[in-house]
Amino acid sequence: MDSANPRTAAARLKKVSTLRPTLAIVLGSGFHHALAELRVDRKIAYAKIPGFPKPTVSGHAGELYFGELGKTPVLVLSGRAHFYEGHPMARVTFAVRVLAAFGVTDLLLTNAAGGVNKHFRAGDFMALTDHINFMGTNPLRGPAISGLRRFVDLTDTYDVRLRELLFRAGKISRLKLRRGVYLAVSGPSYETPAEVRAFARLGADAVGMSTVPEAMAARQCGLRVAAVSCITNLAAGISPEKLSHTEVLETAERVKNSGAALLKNFAQLYRELKNGS
Ligand code: HPA
Repeated sequence: MDSANPRTAAARLKKVSTLRPTLAIVLGSGFHHALAELRVDRKIAYAKIPGFPKPTVSGHAGELYFGELGKTPVLVLSGRAHFYEGHPMARVTFAVRVLAAFGVTDLLLTNAAGGVNKHFRAGDFMALTDHINFMGTNPLRGPAISGLRRFVDLTDTYDVRLRELLFRAGKISRLKLRRGVYLAVSGPSYETPAEVRAFARLGADAVGMSTVPEAMAARQCGLRVAAVSCITNLAAGISPEKLSHTEVLETAERVKNSGAALLKNFAQLYRELKNGS
């Protein structure tokens, strides 16, 4: 399974639908409601895609959709493999490598995150300007992959033009879209208040347990990347409340319409950008 070939999986996907989207969106908590806005052409369970992970976290379905969002052809991945589930990084990043082999050129990653920046509120959204990899390993570590760069430049991991689209989509969707640095931890525990204070000093605005491995693999494959967080809670010690997965899910549910609108408007603006209008 770890030596699964992305091209085999991509070939399987090409048999599912005749759509050939260049934009793919990975749905994290707070964004799953985008599926309600998707005009579904076809869908396939991850279990039927060779080498794809089987997600174990509740609320992460494990299905890949072909469809149109805001009249734009898209691939939507509902469910992702997290490092904290025990998957090796090769499996966490496998889906992204399949997307690249399929012909996707642009990737929008979404996630739930805790707010480290004191100005953030639960229910805000944040466009990633950069990240800090605090997962304790580099997801690109391993044997060199033929045809791919070994020493990947991460200066502009999050594409400035795609980010601009996110801000325009945020405005149209009338939601508060912050910008900032996402720090990735391995999880699955939440952070201690001392860690969160340290992360703030390091320059983090939000903390979460995903996205960074996928963004790094995507850059290695030459994809343009954008990413957005739903700030589902204030990180540990910032508010007097204790953290719980229930709070994360409750906030995600409360702002689900905003998250869905953001993605739909983003997809629409993406098509206009591509068509040069
Ligand atoms: N920390 C880490 N990951 C998270 C958090 C958090 O506070 N909230 C949602 N995902």
